[in-house]
This record gives sequence, structure tokens and C-alpha cells, in this order.
Amino acid sequence: MEQIDVQKKMAGKKAVDYIKDGMTIGLGSGSTVYWMMKRLGELVKEGLDIKGIPSSLRTEGWAKQFGVPLTDFSNTQQLDLAIDGADEVDPQFNLIKGGGGSLVREKIVNTASKKLIIIIDESKLVDQLGAFSLPVEVVQFGYEATALQISKLGCEPVLRMNGKEPFVSNNGNFILDCPFRVINHPEQLNDDIKSVVGVVETGLFLGMTDLVIVGKDACVEVLEN
Ligand code: A5P
Repeated sequence: MEQIDVQKKMAGKKAVDYIKDGMTIGLGSGSTVYWMMKRLGELVKEGLDIKGIPSSLRTEGWAKQFGVPLTDFSNTQQLDLAIDGADEVDPQFNLIKGGGGSLVREKIVNTASKKLIIIIDESKLVDQLGAFSLPVEVVQFGYEATALQISKLGCEPVLRMNGKEPFVSNNGNFILDCPFRVINHPEQLNDDIKSVVGVVETGLFLGMTDLVIVGKDACVEVLEN
């Protein structure tokens, strides 16, 4: 296993320490969350009584594979805890997410949760957001015009591809990856992008993270806001 995967595994496994009996859990997306799901499945087999709401079809598949019970927003609209990955985390715990294309469902799940724990390998810690191209989910119709409007905010959006076809999100939309390089004012940028017609959601997750668990080579570090 590569070192980065060891770090992801350590962070993912540590996160389940925060899960308690009776909780409804927001289940994030990505390869770090995979390790959390695997461990959570083991604990459920040992008797832990929880329910989860997945933020992607992939995570839903892992829940079924590992025996993690699921529920949905028709049963509960407020979650106790969400655990999710991230592509970048700045010192204020602002995030870029959406590298896996699940940002809309992730933002809905994480916003509905009382508490959000982010699990990452240490490469995700940055001084400033923006080196990772910001994912923006847009409706398919007229995406070229939407991209032009976003480009006026200071980047050249790239349509995410899946082989020779555009990548399509779980919600049936396209993703524009927006290389801003350096994001000096994340709140302003988020507002500006969201005001563009055709934009569904941005991968900027601002002011919603309570705890960051960083997997390192031989340990985990827990950072509190
Ligand atoms: C999915 O859309 C993302 O927000 C992921 O949570 C993020 O890309 C982190 O993924 P990894 O844990 O695979 O690095």
C-alpha cells in the first residue's frame, strides 16, 4: 500500500471513534471515506446501532457491501454527525471538495449535520485554497455559456471528462473544474460563482467543519477549530 493510502486509512479508521450508538451519520465520499465505511461496517456487526445517509451512489454501494444501515431525508432532516473527505483544507478549515464529483450531495448532507469531521491525508493541508481546481457543478444545458460567465471571475473552466464523454454527476449534471490557482476571498468567490445562472453548487465548503483528522505516516493528528 502506498504511503498516502496508509494515511487515508489511518484517518478513516480514527473517525469512527466519534460515532456513538443511536446516531444518524452523514456518510461522505472518496477514498478516505472508504476506510471509515469499512471500519464502521465492522462496528455495526459488533452491535453498534447507527444509520447513515450516503452522499454518493458509490458510498451507498460501500454501505451495502459493509452492512452499514441506511436511511434518507424523508425519515430525518437533521443528522448528528457527518464524516467526509476533502481535496484541500486551509488553516481556517475552509475546504475545496468535489474531486470525486459528489459535491452537491456532500454539501446537502454536511449542511444538515450538527457536526462535520473531515478526514484527510496530510497532502490536503494547504496555506491557501486554490491550487486544486475548484469543482463547480452546472446543469448540462448551456454549460458553455455558464463556463464563459465563470471565466470572467478569473479562471479557465475545464469540462470534466470520463474517458471521451463528459463526466455526469449523480444528479445528472456536468462538472467544471476551475483553476483559480489562489483563492484570496473564498466567501466572495463562492457568492460570485453561485450567482451565475446554470450553476448548481460550488466545491467551496466554508465555515462548516468542526474537526479535521489528518492521517500521517505513523499517527493521526486531530485538529480542532
Ligand atoms: C468527493 O466529491 C470529494 O469531495 C472527496 O471527498 C474528496 O475528493 C476527497 O477524496 P479522497 O478521500 O479520495 O482524497
